[in-house]
Amino acid sequence: MSSSKSFYATTPIFYVNDAPHIGHAYTEVAADVLTRWHRQRGESAFLLTGTDEHGEKILRTAAANKVSPKEWADKLVTESWLPLLETIDVKNQDFIRTTEPRHEKNVQVFLQHLYDTGFIYQGDFEGNYCVGCEEYKTMADLIDGEGDFDGQKVCAIHTRPVEKLKETNYFFKLSEFEQPLLDYYAANPRFVQPESAKNEVVSFVRRGLEDLSISRSKEKFDWGIDIPWDSSHITYVWFDALLNYITAIGYGEDTAEAKAKFESLWPASVQIVGKDILRFHAVIWPAMLLAAGLTPPNQVFGHGWLLVGGEKMSKSKLTGIAPSQITDTFGSDAFRYYFMKAIAFGSDGSFSWEDLSARYQSELANGFGNLASRTIAMIHRYFDGVLPAASQHTEADLQVARVAAEAVAKADQAIDDLAIQDAIAAVWTLVDELNNYITVQEPWALAKDEANRERLATVLNTAAEGIRALTVLLAPITPKACATLWSALGQGSLGDLADQKLSQAGVWGQLKAGAAIGVLEPLFPRIETEAK
Ligand code: ME8
Ligand code: MG
Repeated sequence: MSSSKSFYATTPIFYVNDAPHIGHAYTEVAADVLTRWHRQRGESAFLLTGTDEHGEKILRTAAANKVSPKEWADKLVTESWLPLLETIDVKNQDFIRTTEPRHEKNVQVFLQHLYDTGFIYQGDFEGNYCVGCEEYKTMADLIDGEGDFDGQKVCAIHTRPVEKLKETNYFFKLSEFEQPLLDYYAANPRFVQPESAKNEVVSFVRRGLEDLSISRSKEKFDWGIDIPWDSSHITYVWFDALLNYITAIGYGEDTAEAKAKFESLWPASVQIVGKDILRFHAVIWPAMLLAAGLTPPNQVFGHGWLLVGGEKMSKSKLTGIAPSQITDTFGSDAFRYYFMKAIAFGSDGSFSWEDLSARYQSELANGFGNLASRTIAMIHRYFDGVLPAASQHTEADLQVARVAAEAVAKADQAIDDLAIQDAIAAVWTLVDELNNYITVQEPWALAKDEANRERLATVLNTAAEGIRALTVLLAPITPKACATLWSALGQGSLGDLADQKLSQAGVWGQLKAGAAIGVLEPLFPRIETEAK
């Protein structure tokens, strides 16, 4: 990565109409952890998220609520989507809404460019139309008819046959990108990840691509972006939505500032999506970019499902859980830690309250929180809250430093591989080592004999040094606890936590002996368990 380039991560832009649930929050947290990690490395790092606001569904709900679709979206963004980011402590640099002028205008720039260069043409669209729904249905929306309609495909909602309807609209020459995409996947083996997702995408493209209808006649509905050369049509919502990743960073704008921003951010480093929308991101999106002469993102990562009670969690199945249901009790740090640690990124994973409570207690409260609390409490008890200097290091002390250095290297590599759970596991080798170190060194026993004063000082200095390293390593994952812990370590002379370079976290001897250590409230307080 050249130094002028920023790390740039994106999440999908979520349908504004839906209530945010832990599935959306999961994607947000993963992208945020990665971005914060890169920032902690000292890189400039940019996280984009936002909302997808066009289409028929939102038009209808708005009408049902007797407001304009834009007013409806405004309300949902303000009342649901922006608060979600607070709830889970996501530090995004921008939030794009597809109804913003910066997006609408530059989607048109993009479309016009593709039209002028011959990648968009007019053609006839044939689809299955449900009059009850007033919309075209995909095969996935249809079910087998029964009774009078036996042997026919019917709309799943109205259980009545669909009509084959023809509409003239605009097509993107997706079929021309079959070979260029296959070549691109081959030349960039990490473009689609994880491997299972990549294999699925490659075999999908090998089966052949059809041109994509990218407009809808306004006779059906008109809540979308006008096709610039034909205002009787609006842009297909996915074609509109995918472009958010570039319109947010200055695509289509003429100012020097916008061009510089685009240059520094594009191509994106990693675009995180759920596997439901992987094809849009790994097939259609790179084809759109190639058509426009732009480089596809470095990587598209399709993560797995959060399962609740064995089923894909979704609002419609009543398995939906609002993130605040978890954070109200456990806090945002625990939310972030739990989902990143308990589920291998890229695989499906089950959420359960029992697992969350158990990990909160054993890993966060007992493992990490208690380690910090007792170390700081002992510095208060035995050294009046002043960090003692280390003297002669024993093999056990050196071992702690070695484990710290290894944890840094392993975690850093795991983040580059997007194995977030492995990064946390690597950091936890240091948590475990420190807990073990304290158990074996028994500072409370050393404190009983004045002759052991120097050794006691060295042990507590070593433990504090290890906790300093942990604070830097865990800052991207549990930022609130780490901010608290950093200020309790009282190391004003080391500067802000944000300025601590991850690569240096394992370098020993950074804490200044003689510095005042603050008082630490429990980082992960005990939770009175009530039956959920
Ligand atoms: O598809 N487990 O938006 P969407 C894990 N607007 N992740 C989940 C999940 C679950 N059970 N449920 C949802 C759209 N997600 C389009 C995207 S992008 C240009 C346009 C997450 O609101 C996951 O990231 O339906 C999934 O891909 C996304 O929500 C779908 O969000
Ligand atoms: Mg969806």
